[in-house]
Amino acid sequence: MSDYSRPKGTQDFLPEVQPYWEYVRTIVADLAREYGFERIDTPIFETTELFARGVGDATDIVEKEMYSFEDRGGNPITLRPEFTAGVVRAYIENGLRVQPKPIKLYSIGPIFRHEQPQAGRFRQFHQFNAEIIGTPSPLADLEIMLLAWDLYDRLQFRGLSFQLNSTGCPTCRPRYVDALVAHYHTHQDRICEDCQRRLQRNPLRVLDCKQAQCQPVIAAAPKISEHLCDDCAGHFSELLGYLDALGKPFTLNHRLVRGLDYYTKTVFEVWAEGIGAQAAVCGGGRYDGLIALLGGPETPAVGFAAGLERIIMVMEAQEVPVPPLPTPPVLIAHLGAVTRLEAVRLLAALREAGIGVQIAMSKSLKSQLRQADKAAARWVLILGGDELARGEVTVRDMASGSQQTISREGIVAWISEQLQHPA
Ligand code: HAM
Repeated sequence: MSDYSRPKGTQDFLPEVQPYWEYVRTIVADLAREYGFERIDTPIFETTELFARGVGDATDIVEKEMYSFEDRGGNPITLRPEFTAGVVRAYIENGLRVQPKPIKLYSIGPIFRHEQPQAGRFRQFHQFNAEIIGTPSPLADLEIMLLAWDLYDRLQFRGLSFQLNSTGCPTCRPRYVDALVAHYHTHQDRICEDCQRRLQRNPLRVLDCKQAQCQPVIAAAPKISEHLCDDCAGHFSELLGYLDALGKPFTLNHRLVRGLDYYTKTVFEVWAEGIGAQAAVCGGGRYDGLIALLGGPETPAVGFAAGLERIIMVMEAQEVPVPPLPTPPVLIAHLGAVTRLEAVRLLAALREAGIGVQIAMSKSLKSQLRQADKAAARWVLILGGDELARGEVTVRDMASGSQQTISREGIVAWISEQLQHPA
């Protein structure tokens, strides 16, 4: 046993789970391209201030979950707890606003949150994140929601539905928050301590409290849908009209407020059946104020993010078949010191021709063939003393076990031919 173990809430992804990751990454990238998104990669760490402002001081993420530290230059740094703030920073900093809008960007990569680990919840996890920047149109909300939907549909998740709400805008939300706070003040003695605190710091968050004692107060709370201004109400009903037209099942959930402060208007999650407690597989929404908040021009935007670990956990549990990763088709076996020199030359010649090849590293032919089996090689090229003397190579077909000899000069062309025109 090593003296070291991985930090709590992190995972090692061994070679045997890599086919799942490759499969999911490929589906995600294909889908994003089909929808017209371009990839952007931003740093894994940013200044702490970016997330404190962007995600919001009073959110759980900023209050309790960020991996923040001073680097050796004394600069406050945070490992990204989400993509959006970094993508917006990059949008502003690189002058992307001069490009025709909307700008559609996606990212895949690790995210860090110091949460209490449990099934499907990690401290280092991976997100697929997509943003449409530069349009107020509800069509952008729709496109983001359809992208989220299609991702899970393509991965064969069943029982999908949207949870949907509008969180209003700076015009109508304060009026709603006043009504909510007034309602809570008449029930002050019945709510949990956390909600007492939320009322001061971030009142909307009382709506997703899980404590039993708060449930009757939430059930009787005013609904934001009844307080939306004309602009927000119009936006929401246009979006609902599109979802109706496409027959996508959705539930209006007036308790859905989500844990990041930047949302305006639409917020949504996709829920899937049969995945246990973590029913929400992804979430997102519109954030029309964030770009200006971070120093850019007033620019509306909408996006979502999906956790990849949860996807892969479900695929493993349901034994969803995924294609194996390609392996080099050729392994060179060699018998005796003299043949090894020729084996190394053959290795170089095959690689020069662009053929994937490995060389055996043990002495006995038996263990070399075992290595070929494990490596899933299609052919083993055997170079023994006899072959060397005759200028030949023995080719063993690993699937059938049959063998034939081919001249040393002709072997590279023969393998190339087989790979181009499989029998
Ligand atoms: P979020 O809801 O905080 O949104 O995270 C999105 C998704 O990341 C979740 O639905 C879940 O699949 C996954 N996730 C979150 N925390 C964990 C965890 N501890 N372990 C494993 N998976 C997790 C955002 O991050 C927003 N930035 C989404 C967005 C983009 N909104 C607009 N644009």
